[in-house]
Amino acid sequence: MPTRYTLVPMITEEQIRQRVDSLGRQISEDYSGKELLLICTLKGAVTFAADLARRITVPCEMGYIKAKSYDGSSTTGSVDISFEDFPDIRGRNVIIVEDIIDTGITLERLSRHFKAMSPESLKICAFLDKPSRRKADISADYVGCEIDDFFAVGYGLDYNEQFRSLPYIAELVL
Ligand code: IMP
Ligand code: MG
Repeated sequence: MPTRYTLVPMITEEQIRQRVDSLGRQISEDYSGKELLLICTLKGAVTFAADLARRITVPCEMGYIKAKSYDGSSTTGSVDISFEDFPDIRGRNVIIVEDIIDTGITLERLSRHFKAMSPESLKICAFLDKPSRRKADISADYVGCEIDDFFAVGYGLDYNEQFRSLPYIAELVL
């Protein structure tokens, strides 16, 4: 736990709920008559994926993968993907669910691996998007909220494993 910090509330629980409802409706319409496989990236996207899945009305399976690129509040530029228990996505309609797209490097690597596994379709849904920080040529098909360049915690997002359980999103000022 950092010894001195301030949490500045940025996105309230109510705002989160409204955005998740709306994404759930949109995805349910877009995949009407189809079956979905939501792939949640551990650990940050767990809270969002659990809420989103419950707002999707088409049949929906969930898979989990582990990807890590951050250390504290700075990106390492390299991405660790764990291929243990990697879900079988061949021929499936897949949405990768992410907590946040920052540089885009994580999602660019993940999408490349996923495309090579021949899914029927592949899309990306991220709750937060920081477009001003983008380094990789990648964008999400579904976005909860665009934010400025600040370090976000809460609603699954952490700083060294802290703050994930906050029910709202805050800027962490160290
Ligand atoms: P990217 O590869 O730079 O797009 O970073 C993606 C990953 O870094 C996200 O899935 C998060 O886990 C983490 N990350 C990026 N920005 C933040 C932030 O503001 N707060 C907490 N985690 C972040
Ligand atoms: Mg993440």
